[in-house]
Amino acid sequence: MLNIILMGPPGAGKGTQSELIVKKYGIPHISTGDMFREAAASGTEVGKKAAEYMNAGKLVPDEVTIAIVKERLSKPDCANGYLLDGFPRTLVQADALKTLTNEISRPLTHVINLIADEDELINRIASRRVCPNTSCGASYNLVSKAPKVDGKCDLCGHDLILRDDDTPESFKVRLEAYKGKTYPLIEYYRQEGLLKEVDGLKAIDEVFASIVEVLEPPYDCN
Ligand code: AP5
Ligand code: MG
Repeated sequence: MLNIILMGPPGAGKGTQSELIVKKYGIPHISTGDMFREAAASGTEVGKKAAEYMNAGKLVPDEVTIAIVKERLSKPDCANGYLLDGFPRTLVQADALKTLTNEISRPLTHVINLIADEDELINRIASRRVCPNTSCGASYNLVSKAPKVDGKCDLCGHDLILRDDDTPESFKVRLEAYKGKTYPLIEYYRQEGLLKEVDGLKAIDEVFASIVEVLEPPYDCN
């Protein structure tokens, strides 16, 4: 059973690695950021409110975020595993998740923290381009994962854009939110005995190989 949290600062590669993990292991990808962006694109009240926080780089309030995760994690497709990307981000969310996963008997099995330094995060965010087509949402990087045709999505042909919160101002606030509110969760999950750290500075396929090693540790004969 793989009930995973993938953690890391903005731009560490959570979305990129999530895509590879769900493809290999066939578990649902639960990204709170993606869920809020979809809600914003659909123009729902929750989406409009969330967009105000997101575009400013601030965290969406705990009660809203916990409610959407609670609903999603309780769905039948999460019974055989799930991958949380970008949740929890506060101690309140982590405690709520612990209660919820106990209630629904889907306890966490792995917490993987992607490590990357600030300069690399800034470069990755500045060179990220995303597909605005909500039924596609593919993500690229001008340096490390360029589209085949300049400025166009490989999958659906839409013009690629910069994510609304990938401005230098918003990124600065996101990083501060990470340092102040999310970073303490590393110690929280270390204490729980669940934490595994992975070097996120390596190439995308090398990072993925390290994650697979965490999820499928080599058999120890001794
Ligand atoms: P969210 O969408 O989760 O954004 P984030 O945490 O800031 O992280 P990113 O998605 O920017 O980065 P990533 O780690 O996924 O990196 P990626 O793989 O794309 O959240 C957005 C907002 O939603 C939050 O700010 C908040 O407002 C709200 N929100 C979400 N969850 C919330 C919660 N729990 N509570 C409250 N509010 C919440 O990679 C980045 C770039 O680098 C890409 O271009 C990629 O191609 C490239 N790249 C990836 N890996 C590598 C590599 N190994 N080498 C070179 N390039 C790489
Ligand atoms: Mg992401």
